[in-house]
Amino acid sequence: MPRPALLLATVLLALGISRTGTHVHASVTVYSQAPFKGSTSTAPVTSASAVPNAYNDPNQLTAPALPSSLPATSFNLQLAANNGSVAGLSIPIPGSFYGFSVEMSVSNQILGKNASLLQVPFLNLMSLLKARGGGVHIRVGGNTQETATMVASLPNGTILEKAAVNTQDTTQTPALLVSPELIYMMANISALISGVKWYLGVPMNDTSNLRLEIAEYGEAILGDNLLGLQVGNEPDLYGAHRFGGRPTTYSPQDYFTEFGQEMTGINADANIPVKKNIVGPSVTGGTWTPDQVFATGYLSAYASNLGFISVENYPDDNCQAIFGGDSAAKDPQTEFPKYLTHGAGAGIVAGFLSASAQARALGLPMLMFETNTASCGGFPGLSDSFGAALWGLDYGLTMAAANFSGALLHVSGASVYYNPFTPPPTNQSSYHSWTVAPIFYSTLIVAEALGPTNTAQVVDLQANYASNYTPAYAIYENGAPARVALFNYMTDPSGANAYTASIQVSGMALSSVQVKYLASPSVAEKYNITWAGQDFGGAFESDGRLQGNLSVSTIQCTNNVCPVRVPAPGFVLVFLTDASFSEVNPAESAVPTFSTTTSKAGKATLSVNPSVLATSNGHGGPGGKLKLGSTSLEKNAACGRGAGRGGVSVLVAAAVGVGAAVVGRRI
Ligand SMILES: *[C@@H]1O[C@H](CO)[C@@H](O)[C@H](O)[C@H]1NC(C)=O
Ligand SMILES: *[C@@H]1O[C@H](CO)[C@@H](O)[C@H](O)[C@H]1NC(C)=O
Ligand SMILES: *[C@@H]1O[C@H](CO)[C@@H](O)[C@H](O)[C@H]1NC(C)=O
Ligand SMILES: *[C@@H]1O[C@H](CO)[C@@H](O)[C@H](O)[C@H]1NC(C)=O
Ligand SMILES: *[C@@H]1O[C@H](CO)[C@@H](O)[C@H](O)[C@H]1NC(C)=O
Ligand SMILES: *[C@@H]1O[C@H](CO)[C@@H](O)[C@H](O)[C@H]1NC(C)=O
Ligand SMILES: *[C@@H]1O[C@H](CO)[C@@H](O)[C@H](O)[C@H]1NC(C)=O
Ligand SMILES: *[C@@H]1O[C@H](CO)[C@@H](O)[C@H](O)[C@H]1NC(C)=O
Ligand SMILES: *[C@@H]1O[C@H](CO)[C@@H](O)[C@H](O)[C@H]1NC(C)=O
Repeated sequence: MPRPALLLATVLLALGISRTGTHVHASVTVYSQAPFKGSTSTAPVTSASAVPNAYNDPNQLTAPALPSSLPATSFNLQLAANNGSVAGLSIPIPGSFYGFSVEMSVSNQILGKNASLLQVPFLNLMSLLKARGGGVHIRVGGNTQETATMVASLPNGTILEKAAVNTQDTTQTPALLVSPELIYMMANISALISGVKWYLGVPMNDTSNLRLEIAEYGEAILGDNLLGLQVGNEPDLYGAHRFGGRPTTYSPQDYFTEFGQEMTGINADANIPVKKNIVGPSVTGGTWTPDQVFATGYLSAYASNLGFISVENYPDDNCQAIFGGDSAAKDPQTEFPKYLTHGAGAGIVAGFLSASAQARALGLPMLMFETNTASCGGFPGLSDSFGAALWGLDYGLTMAAANFSGALLHVSGASVYYNPFTPPPTNQSSYHSWTVAPIFYSTLIVAEALGPTNTAQVVDLQANYASNYTPAYAIYENGAPARVALFNYMTDPSGANAYTASIQVSGMALSSVQVKYLASPSVAEKYNITWAGQDFGGAFESDGRLQGNLSVSTIQCTNNVCPVRVPAPGFVLVFLTDASFSEVNPAESAVPTFSTTTSKAGKATLSVNPSVLATSNGHGGPGGKLKLGSTSLEKNAACGRGAGRGGVSVLVAAAVGVGAAVVGRRI
């Protein structure tokens, strides 16, 4: 598998571009607090693939041709009756496995404007995940955490502000000023949806002048909803970028020393009461492997601080298209087939198996702390395709089978192709809803496959003679087989390459099983994608709730063998027992939703005042701090396409233009 390229060193904040480079090839202009210009932006972004309308780009790739050697179209899957002797079975994996990594600089677009104005579609999406997996883990951080500074307050209740870029800093990372209001906003989200928990990034650009205020406020405000604090984001790239003035020779030993300076500061800081919640080493594996960091004695030296072992990896990059420069341009169509095989996820995970084993030996969760289809914004037509949804599902289950306890899909601004969900450009936010991308289904369905019990154990079944195009997994729960995940990566409208998996569980009577299909006519498709008949609509069509009627199929079994047909392309989740179905398919009325309201134009507005929402159904906020509001936490909302927009009267504070930095190449 291609490793994340170490190509270029420019950071595009608004594009949420991962800093993956070695040289600066272009300068970056950051317009402090300039309004985002929308789809016809005059922002100086020049490359065709960097056009800032990723969220509604309808251009599709072509589905790859069928493989020359076609896999069998029927095969058996025989599962063991219990987890006692299943080779390759994972440790227990939580249903919160797939979460999100929100670039700190766009948290005011994704999460909300401030603690009293939250993004309704975001809340609804998190509510869907919580109802399946029991919780959602979200990191606020990324490159922009490194130069962030928390200040006591910002003018007019703003939660973050970008200062001008320091042109002496070759990473071109603009300093970010954040206010405690950002953390209150996160706390208010957790108060509305219990089970939403957070990781925060602590800056590490300058270990002789620690800025630990983010950690202090984070622990004070979030309490138990703070999972961990990341110290050092992709430190193996610090040297290449001369980040924080570090030399190009920056080594794992240098990182070990500087990490120690951070730990000394944290351990001495009485305002950071929890010490053993640090996330590290967060290397990409491309420059240093985790094992090279561990070889410095990192794991034992910092055992009293480390709460999580982390890596960050994108399997590919689109940096040339964004930055130009020396590296070869990549054609999304050429890259596409590389994602559409079982080997894709396995190739990423292979480099981290040793780290995963060491984390398990220490009893620490192993995390893929930031990932997605490709860095530098992803690939047009690929990152936002049905194929990406299949890739995300397979990659997620591969990580789970390899004892990763969590993986966070990166979410950035409106110009990237890999976002699972994207708010409209802020000047359209009062009349357009969100765009939910195919890869969001990966998170929804992995939550459903693992469930909320924290006992899910995953095994790759090496199905169909380990065919790369038809992988399958079994998920055991409470020690017994619960669900089976079946993939078909091929696109064949003729139907000839649909396959039938005949599922059987040793010693278990099976008269019928329930199944849900993730369906689409092609891996290249962007919009006609349904999960058990439901979807999120097309670009700008989502308020974060599933639309349409749920459609679950029942398959009859013969002699305890259940034949499940998987279309080409397609994904099927098979529920072996009633409990394995019901625990992740709560009645829609049981899933809290947060409603938008109608504006004068009759369209949804997007943000809602949590002090109103949280108190509306009679519950006070935590500690009774929230003021009594005047509306109801909506349940059982009509979910038809476009439904729920009218007839809902909730006091809503209209979203207004969020000051976003427009970043691009200066030509
Ligand atoms: C949003 O911004 C774009 C680009 O500047 C502009 O063309 C469009 O008219 C704006 N829309 C509104 C409603 O202001
Ligand atoms: C704060 O809001 C006031 C009133 O809307 C406005 O005049 C002022 O420019 C704002 N200040 C900043 C720094 O945005
Ligand atoms: C939150 O943001 C909205 C929109 O900018 C603003 O009207 C409101 O005053 C802010 N609230 C606080 C408490 O600052
Ligand atoms: C919600 O945010 C407000 C600040 O706007 C804060 O006073 C309140 O404590 C927050 N609620 C929670 C549960 O953190
Ligand atoms: C680290 O970031 C802070 C805040 O942006 C900045 O003031 C400081 O100069 C930076 N330090 C180094 C060594 O780059
Ligand atoms: C995951 O952990 C289990 C239990 O310790 C172990 O048997 C299995 O080999 C591990 N898987 C990998 C890929 O390391
Ligand atoms: C089997 O599952 C049970 C219940 O979740 C668990 O306690 C036990 O440790 C598991 N055994 C193995 C070998 O994974
Ligand atoms: C959408 O895809 C399904 C297959 O998943 C297909 O049956 C249906 O015809 C497609 N609808 C449209 C409008 O293309
Ligand atoms: C959903 O089901 C209802 C009631 O059975 C029906 O009236 C409606 O047309 C269905 N909607 C769709 C999109 O199929």
